[in-house]
Amino acid sequence: MESESAIDGTSLDLGPAKAELSRRVSSSLNFSTSPHPPSWPKSGDFARAQSFVSPKPLKPFNTADFKILLLENVNKTGVDLLEGVNYQVTSLKSSLPEDELIEKIRDVQVIGIRSKTKLTERVLKAAKNLIVIGCFCIGTNQVDLKYAAERGIAVFNSPFSNSRSVAELVIGEIIALARQLGDRSNELHRGTWNKVSNGCWEIRGKTLGIIGYGHIGSQLSVLAEAFGMTVIYYDTVNLMALGTAKQVPTLEELFKAADFVTCHVPELPETTGMIGREELSQMKRGSYLINASRGHVVDIPALINAMRSGQIAGAALDVYPSEPGGNGDYFSNDLNPWAEDLRRLKNIILTPHIGGSTEEAQSAIGIEVAQALIRYINDGATLGAVNMPEVSLRSLTIDEPNHVRVIYIHRNVPGVLKTVNEILGDHNVDKQMTDSRGDVAYLMADISDVSNTVIKDLYQRLEGLNSRIMTRVLF
Ligand SMILES: NC(=O)c1ccc[n+]([C@@H]2O[C@H](COP(=O)([O-])OP(=O)(O)OC[C@H]3O[C@@H](n4cnc5c(N)ncnc54)[C@H](O)[C@@H]3O)[C@@H](O)[C@H]2O)c1
Repeated sequence: MESESAIDGTSLDLGPAKAELSRRVSSSLNFSTSPHPPSWPKSGDFARAQSFVSPKPLKPFNTADFKILLLENVNKTGVDLLEGVNYQVTSLKSSLPEDELIEKIRDVQVIGIRSKTKLTERVLKAAKNLIVIGCFCIGTNQVDLKYAAERGIAVFNSPFSNSRSVAELVIGEIIALARQLGDRSNELHRGTWNKVSNGCWEIRGKTLGIIGYGHIGSQLSVLAEAFGMTVIYYDTVNLMALGTAKQVPTLEELFKAADFVTCHVPELPETTGMIGREELSQMKRGSYLINASRGHVVDIPALINAMRSGQIAGAALDVYPSEPGGNGDYFSNDLNPWAEDLRRLKNIILTPHIGGSTEEAQSAIGIEVAQALIRYINDGATLGAVNMPEVSLRSLTIDEPNHVRVIYIHRNVPGVLKTVNEILGDHNVDKQMTDSRGDVAYLMADISDVSNTVIKDLYQRLEGLNSRIMTRVLF
């Protein structure tokens, strides 16, 4: 009888069932004949994230059989974590032309990309073995998220790893605007010595108004207070203030009191043009505006007028309604019709969407996305997935040796749970969670006292259902 080595050291006898099951599950996982228990990530962070009593690592495959393709020079932190789990990792410096990508993606269970690789329906159709995509960046527009979900492929990204970088940039800009640093520096670059103190200020004692008190806004609040600023913020949600900051009930109240107004809201219909002519006129005369959130939040022609009239004494913009796809001399009226008017203004800092672009943010992105991939591959948890419902179960512990975790990704149609529970109901279901997002639902159940024959039977019965998108069993 052939035996499968389980991670906890116990032997699972699969016998002839194994070869069959191995073939049947190959689209979602690989049974391994390796006698060696796969090693587990050594990262302290990951271990802490799984901080349960002796959690039992789950996976019925040999990690070395698990193929991961990383494109676009994914940060070393992410590559190291994935290699630390002994997956078979191939890391390429660049993206690939579509035809080559289609060739390479056929073979892998995981792909990691940044913003240049387009995972379209055509590419994903070829990805027969793919179970998960890691976007080692903030956005996920480059992936056909809906099609990926319909194929049972989860997508993870790292939306908040660069919050600190943005907050620090904004602090720098507050000081630079208050002291007209951009203008003084430009003048001296042109050979002009212009030593002035008129209209230049310390930031100590001034009021900062933060619109959107989320990851970035709240970091900024702490930094600004350390500089002696008074912080007020407006958010649509009631949020606990950090330090001595105060939430104000209306935007108008914020505009009336703030010397500096900074926007940190998401792109939503309500935030499009949220700072326009009317709002600029409510701000204190001679105040400053900063936008490092999304390009449509500030009505830029209205800002140009407000700066020309002296209503606004300075501004810093990091984001624009249209942004070029690559670096070069693109910031002209061809890109945005007011670009040249904007460039001619005094005391305006224009940066090319670099708020989150730091080495530290890249490294944090590598860690966060790699950890999400490892959790998904080995435990099935979808926390943080952008195209799947968020489902997670408490870890099994090493004193629960005969458990199996069943993951059933299925079409969200009436009656599925009844059918699935008829299959699972013959067994001892310890815990179960299911949730849906649009047309796709994700069910995870831990079942105890199961033999290998039962595992095979469960798997085959679930695979046989019409609603099935993907079945995985982890033990
Ligand atoms: N410039 C860059 O490089 C860069 C980098 C990272 C993030 N960003 C952008 O910065 C923005 C903020 O990011 P975050 O990580 O802090 O987001 P977040 O989701 O953590 O916080 C956003 C906050 O805005 C609040 N909000 C939503 N609608 C609002 C409204 N109409 N009025 C007031 N508050 C509202 C939310 O309740 C939330 O507290 C996002 O648009 C993000 O895309 C830019």
